[in-house]
Amino acid sequence: MSDADLENDPWSWWRDRMPVTKKWAYFDHAAVAPISRPAADALKSFADVAASHGDVHWMDWSNAVNRLRDLTAELVQCEREEVTLVPNTTTGINLVAEGLDWKAGDNMVVPEGEFPSNLYPWLNQQSKGVEVRIVPRRDGRVEVNDLMERVDDRTRLISVSWVGYARGFRVDLNELVEQAHAKGVLVFLDAIQGLGMYPLDLQTCDVDFVAADGHKWLLGPEGAGVAIIRKRHLDRLHCSTVGWASVENAHLFSGSEFKLRGDASRFEGGSLNQSGMMSFAASLEMFCQVARHHGHDAIGNRVLERARKLRGLLTQRGARLIHGPWDNTVHASAITTFEIPGETPDRFRARALETGVVVSCRGGGVRASVHVYNDDADLNRLAELVSSSDINASSPSDRN
Ligand SMILES: Cc1ncc(COP(=O)(O)O)c(C=O)c1O
Repeated sequence: MSDADLENDPWSWWRDRMPVTKKWAYFDHAAVAPISRPAADALKSFADVAASHGDVHWMDWSNAVNRLRDLTAELVQCEREEVTLVPNTTTGINLVAEGLDWKAGDNMVVPEGEFPSNLYPWLNQQSKGVEVRIVPRRDGRVEVNDLMERVDDRTRLISVSWVGYARGFRVDLNELVEQAHAKGVLVFLDAIQGLGMYPLDLQTCDVDFVAADGHKWLLGPEGAGVAIIRKRHLDRLHCSTVGWASVENAHLFSGSEFKLRGDASRFEGGSLNQSGMMSFAASLEMFCQVARHHGHDAIGNRVLERARKLRGLLTQRGARLIHGPWDNTVHASAITTFEIPGETPDRFRARALETGVVVSCRGGGVRASVHVYNDDADLNRLAELVSSSDINASSPSDRN
């Protein structure tokens, strides 16, 4: 499909850029996504050039990697100087957890049931005398008021996943940031389950720190991610790992002047995963192209429409949704978790794989994470598997 189709039919245009669709109905973007064709092409081209020419074209790679900073800034309306490239979300969380000037007796607040990467880096601060306050969810929900109730005058930060990995509850960021900032509390956003899908405008939603890897919804390879450290926090965050690339004269290897770069790239320290970052940038370009043509809300609206349709098909065929009743609210996401009467999630997943349908087992059920390029035929392939479930095949012991 040509770029003219981007204007008229962006979702078919997108699907055309997803080689995975030839074989699979893929619903596992909340785990590890298939990489898009632009991402794959960038990897192949890097490998060809590196094999044939070594680092002769290093500047071209560096420019392509820098494009990732521009695209990230465009996607979330931050400044490019606030973007730092990280190998994964976990690293971005640790940059902040290790970099804040905690004092013994400080505390931070995090919801229960977070992915471990948004818990362990905070628990790791306990050795400095930091208290980690874990706030129970309400049937999968993260209520901002519940988080705020645990805030006191020693609370430094609240850290949340934008979208919960298991059951897909999306936190109301505007409300969280507004309430936290009113009490002088910083907000860290683990954005890996939402970035690229739902609009995030840091000009209006003034989150302090963000991190996400590109290998889920952004359709890039594993090991290439971005973190955003807002300008106002650059100097308050101690650089816990530094190296040649952290300083202003990064290419003056004989120098000994330790003057940190004036932007967030100071956290990068050493050589980057150039191939991964270039590939991630190529994929992110697709998201920005669609947003430029159709507006920032278009991707979110489309993916939520896909998720609603999928849920309808699944329930018509007898699946029981086990994520909460937040479908038509600001908390909706593209993650659907469901049970099939008489069949364990593990067995359903294995059966689905045999027929070319990819889901995973999370949150006590089957998790289907749909993307904008999944068409009706994909949705039907998954739904039909529910109708054909064999109730005699259940084995309660391998319940997730
Ligand atoms: C909410 C959340 N945070 C963090 C991670 C881990 O991300 P990474 O491997 O990029 O550190 C995951 C992975 O599933 C996740 O779902």
